[in-house]
This record gives sequence, structure tokens and C-alpha cells, in this order.
Amino acid sequence: MTDKSQSIHGQWSSRFTFILAATGSAVGLGNIWKFPYITGENGGGAFVMVYLMCILGLGIPIMIAEIMLGRRGRQSPINTMRSLATEAGSDPRWQYLGWAGMIAGFLILAYYSVIAGWAMAYIVKDFFGSFINSDAMEIQRLFDNLMASPFQQIFWHTAFLIITMLCVMRGVQNGLEKAVRFLMPTLFVILMLLVAYAMSSGGYEQGMAFLFHADFSKLTADSILTAMGHAFFTLSLGMGAIMVYGSYLPNNVSIAKTTFFIAGADTVVALLAGIAIFPLVFANNLEAGSGPGLIFQTLPLAFGHMTGGWLFGLLFFILLFFAALSSSISLIEPAVAWLVENNNMDRPTASLWAGAACWVLGIGVVFSFNIWSDLKLFDKNLFELLDYLTANMMLPLGGMAIAIFAGWIMQPKDAEEELELPAQGFQIWQFLIKYVSPAAVFLVFLHVLGVL
Ligand code: TRP
Repeated sequence: MTDKSQSIHGQWSSRFTFILAATGSAVGLGNIWKFPYITGENGGGAFVMVYLMCILGLGIPIMIAEIMLGRRGRQSPINTMRSLATEAGSDPRWQYLGWAGMIAGFLILAYYSVIAGWAMAYIVKDFFGSFINSDAMEIQRLFDNLMASPFQQIFWHTAFLIITMLCVMRGVQNGLEKAVRFLMPTLFVILMLLVAYAMSSGGYEQGMAFLFHADFSKLTADSILTAMGHAFFTLSLGMGAIMVYGSYLPNNVSIAKTTFFIAGADTVVALLAGIAIFPLVFANNLEAGSGPGLIFQTLPLAFGHMTGGWLFGLLFFILLFFAALSSSISLIEPAVAWLVENNNMDRPTASLWAGAACWVLGIGVVFSFNIWSDLKLFDKNLFELLDYLTANMMLPLGGMAIAIFAGWIMQPKDAEEELELPAQGFQIWQFLIKYVSPAAVFLVFLHVLGVL
């Protein structure tokens, strides 16, 4: 057995470090790349409303639960779930939740790394001045060329994974701590600059109306599922990433306060990204629903025309790269922690195996944007399939299972002891986690299946 107060993998040096790492995990491509494009595809305002409601009613209580389980278990999610289930006198098969999460993280990283590779490619494009004075057509052509080139995408996907695995190898404390400390605030400043530019772009009012005017008639069952899935995705919930980070958390830290900070920062970044992007979409007569290329087809237009745009563009894509890096580390950490615990591997070997497996699957994802783009299952190419399977299905179901475990299986007094909330706060959390979260996920699935 491990020492109860600390995980064998180490511990964060302070509450601040945990906040940085967890915020680093939450804020990533999900906020800046995915949120805008799925908002565009799902009609805007109403979708954003559902997403915000899911952050509040599902994301926050489940994040509290996930951090709590991690800190109490102090091992990889698989072993944490097994020992907590045993402690509560329940079925050790709860460990399969840890397994599902590990697999989800691995599947997400396979495509996450490809998209992060696009961001890296755009650092170079900006550096060579490719955006300067370009019009929407030229920017579109740049993106199409990248999509058409398996070679370029594989190159950047490989580079990104190598960097990720090097960081993971170095363990929890040395990883990205220092870098993230100043990168996050800088990213925030650049986003504010882009918002200021968007305000002057002529499409501002239309962009804001698109984002915040809720027309519920546009909302399909699948949009609701996507919004809910994205609430899990953007907060890194439902697969054990936040659980594993929680397992490195010192005992004296308030889980609830920390959660509010992380969820708040994450939401602000996503909304700022949307406010920066949609005015550009409308000012340039672009297509809001153009899909995963949206930020790559809009932001370079701003960088190509604003004063100092070359520098801001460079900074932006570098920061996006770092935001992706601090997220991808958390996607693979559960697998690495488990390989180390159960298979007697050292961290470097474990990282190498996990990284190699992601690399192979990522190649398939690259092909789904070009040579395999017509290869479809359920009308989805490999990228869309992986995204749908993980974000829309595995994460919400994983989150629901975490809620059920924290609300119904774990002894309430244990949860109370971990959370140290004021009585009323604890009751609210308990109500949300026992009834609201599991029921909401369940109802959305029924709705998608057409039962409701
Ligand atoms: N939250 C990250 C983003 O928005 C992605 C991510 C990192 C993630 N770790 C995760 C998603 C764990 C789901 C589960 O980009």
C-alpha cells in the first residue's frame, strides 16, 4: 500500500502549482480551436447557453468529485477507483472506469496532437510572413494546402508528440510548471488584443449576436449532446485526468475554491476566443460552420492586417502550442501513471510506449483529412469518429459514473471530510452530484436516441 498522504509519483509543491497544472490541462485547443468551430456548426447562441449550463450544473460538481476521488485514492485512476470501491465496501470492478478513462485519453491525444501540429505549422507560416496582407481566399488556400499534405501534418504531429512525451517523462513537478506560470497570463492578454481588433472589424455586432442571441429552434438533440460533451472536454473531465492531478494534491487545499477558479478561467478563455473569431467570420463573409479549420481560416486574416500582426500572430500560435502541450500531458498521464504502477516500468519507458501508440493512431487521423477523407463509418471520417466517441460519449458517461460513485457509493462522511465545505455548500454539491448530474447525462442520451 502507498503512504496515504502522498502519491508514489510525487506531489504538487503547492496549491498554486495544482491550479496552474489543472488550468493548463483545462485551457487548451478545446477552448480556442474547438469551442468556436462547434459553436459555428451548431448555430451559435442557444448552443452556447446549453454549454454554459452544463459547465455550471455538471462540470463544476463533477470536477469537485473527480479531484476529491483522486486525492483520496492517491494512485492512477484505475487503482484509485479499485481501492476507493473496496474502502466503500463496493465492487472492485469500478476500476473499469479508470480503464475507460485511460483509453479515452489515449484516443483523444491521437487527434489532439494532430491539431496541435497544425498550430505549430502556423507558427512557421506566420514567421515567414505568409499572412501579411492576405485576403480570405489566400488564407483559405494556406489551410487547404496543409490539409492536403499528409507529410507536413505527420511531421508536426510527430514533433508535437515527441515534445509531449519528453515533458511527461520528467514527471509531475518539473514538467511545465515554470512555463505555464507566465504563458497563461500572456495568452489572456493576446486574446484581449484580438477581441479589441474584432470590435473594430465591422462584424462585431453580428458576431456577438451570433454567440449570445439564443434561438432554441436551431438546437437539435445532437447539438445538445455536443454542448454537454464539450463541457466535459473543455474541463478535462470524465476520464481521470483531473483525478490523477488531484492525486498529487496536498491535503490542506480547498477543492471547491480551486474548482471554481479553474472552471471560471476556462470559460472566460473560450468566450474570449469566440468573441475574437466570430466578428471576423461575419466581416469577411466566411462560413461560421466551416468546421475544424475555423480559427486557421479567420485569425490569420486579423494578423495579416492589424498593426503588429506579425508579432501577435507569432505569439498567438506559440501560446496555442503551449496551451495544447499542457493539456496533452494530462491526457496521457493516467496511462503513464498506470504503466508505472502495474507494469514495473520507469517513467521514460512508459511514456515511450504510450506516445508510440498515439503516434500510430494519429497518422490515421492525418489521413482522414486527405487520402482517407472519404472513408466513413456512420457518416464520419476517423477524426470525427474519434471526437464523437470520446467527447460526446465516453466523457459524459465517465462523468456520470464518477458522479454516481461520489454521490452514491462513497460514504458521505468521507466526502464531507475531503471537501471541508460549509454545511450548505456540501448539501448543494451532494444534490447536484447525486441527482442532477447523472440524470442530466441520462436524459440527454435518451433525447439523442429519440426516446425522449
Ligand atoms: N481540456 C483540454 C482542452 O480543452 C483537453 C483535455 C486535456 C482533455 N485533458 C483532458 C479533455 C481530459 C478530456 C479529458 O483542450
